[in-house]
Amino acid sequence: MTSTIDQDHLIGTKITTDLWRNAVVYQIYPRSFADSNGDGIGDLPGITSRVPYLRWLGVNAVWLSPFYPSALADGGYDVDDHRNVDPQLGNLDDFDAMVAALHAADIKVIVDIVPNHTSNRHAWFVQALAAGRGASERDRYLFRDGRGRAGELPPNDWESIFGGSAWASSGDGQWYFHCFAAEQPDLNWENEEVREDFRRTIRFWADRGVDGFRIDVAHGLRKDLSEPYPPWGEIADLMRPDGSHPLWDRDDVHEIYADWRRIFDSYDPPRYAVAEAIVHPTRRARYASADSLGQAFNFAMQDADWRAEDYRQVIDTGLADMINSGATTSWLLGCHDTPRVATRYGLPLEDDCSAQQVARAWLLSDGAEPYLDRSLGERRSRAAIMILLALPGSTYIYQGDELGLHEVADLAPEVLEDPMASRSTTEKGRDGCRVPLPWTAQGPSYGFGAAIGHLPQPDWFGAYAVSVQEADADSTLTLYRQALALRDHLFAGSGLSWVESEPWVLHFARPGGIRCVTNFGTESVSLPAGQVLLSSAHLDHGRLPTDTTVWLRVP
Ligand code: GLC
Ligand code: CA
Repeated sequence: MTSTIDQDHLIGTKITTDLWRNAVVYQIYPRSFADSNGDGIGDLPGITSRVPYLRWLGVNAVWLSPFYPSALADGGYDVDDHRNVDPQLGNLDDFDAMVAALHAADIKVIVDIVPNHTSNRHAWFVQALAAGRGASERDRYLFRDGRGRAGELPPNDWESIFGGSAWASSGDGQWYFHCFAAEQPDLNWENEEVREDFRRTIRFWADRGVDGFRIDVAHGLRKDLSEPYPPWGEIADLMRPDGSHPLWDRDDVHEIYADWRRIFDSYDPPRYAVAEAIVHPTRRARYASADSLGQAFNFAMQDADWRAEDYRQVIDTGLADMINSGATTSWLLGCHDTPRVATRYGLPLEDDCSAQQVARAWLLSDGAEPYLDRSLGERRSRAAIMILLALPGSTYIYQGDELGLHEVADLAPEVLEDPMASRSTTEKGRDGCRVPLPWTAQGPSYGFGAAIGHLPQPDWFGAYAVSVQEADADSTLTLYRQALALRDHLFAGSGLSWVESEPWVLHFARPGGIRCVTNFGTESVSLPAGQVLLSSAHLDHGRLPTDTTVWLRVP
């Protein structure tokens, strides 16, 4: 054994109760999960109808991407009203019924809080436009005078994350700032009304029984829009180690979370929160600390290539975060923003590109080039989830990854919904991982609903359906279910030690003689003597084949 990390004594604050420290959280993208009324759009009663599935699968919690009223300029992350349900998805009674059903199944509920921006249809933004220059209604957003004689030019050359200018004209010589789509005006977090409104939103959902919150763009709320503006070329690299970027990961953002922490902790049990903070690795722990949000996604795992050294490095950094934050890491292989893991791992690696970059370029070719090896990607992603589930910390599973689903690469331009596709010339966008789930092998939308879903499903979806896989002992779904069932019994505490092995083998020990071994190499390797508990693929005469993970108990 080469190194040991055991931080149990550091952890155990009020916010990181045992459940959240190790929870398996299933991410639901509501519009694509299950459609109860046949309008092609997944809805809250659809989720309620699938609670037995979630319980059978064995997850501890669900995180729901936004279900709030929205024109869907950005898949629901353009929120018209943070304290309501989109009528197409149901109403507040449906929400309460869904929470009751999930709680009855012992599944906690996390909702998305989108504090960086509202939609342009939000009452505040409508008022801001109508009120005109200099009005206090504009102070809730980031309006600035344009350049040029009549303000006909944007205040600076800064760019939106989705491509194009980060400024949109209000038609009266002023411009408003938007990090994302023009339909998502950024809020001004210096404004006390904005702060108070989000306190209200958090209490609103917590009072309705919500157990936790996923904080969208948690690293973005505070901004320095003072002049002179640095040129975009100087700030286009968004991650800095020192909090000096004018838009991202500024130190004073944590004041907001310290304020929210008091609200979270005023509930019994305290409400949980997880940050979507896309920050320099050295800055992640701060969001996960007990006086901030309490947990933060570790996106490095999602960005990692299928290589032992990449995984080892990501795990080491995640464990170091644990020491720095006192919270466990939140691991994930995918979410609604990233090409699906089975696809990322089924495309050939290129030296100077990450698997994620390769997959995004592949999407631009509608999936034609380079060649996708579907079964290879599925095999590797099965091995990968067994690594994540064996680590100390919490794991997020994106809906459909438990089916080994691939990205849908050949969606026609006219069906694309993601603003990234229309605003950017170099991205096809994120719709390919948001296609409605296949529940049955047949039917107009493979059991998603009675009609065709809002994004078309390809012919190959039926073979991945839940009904097909639940009956197959070797399916990806069965593996997920077995792994989740075993996990609770096998992995205690937060200790992890690396076990010396060949460079292409990832091997770690957990307390109680439990080992997790993954072979990233091209030939099978021998295993330590012990009892095999679960394996992501069949063993080869007792040896561990390539692209396979095994959990063992050693004497
Ligand atoms: C987050 C969401 C993403 C959304 C963006 C703007 O990154 O995960 O889907 O587009 O925020 O709200
Ligand atoms: Ca519906």
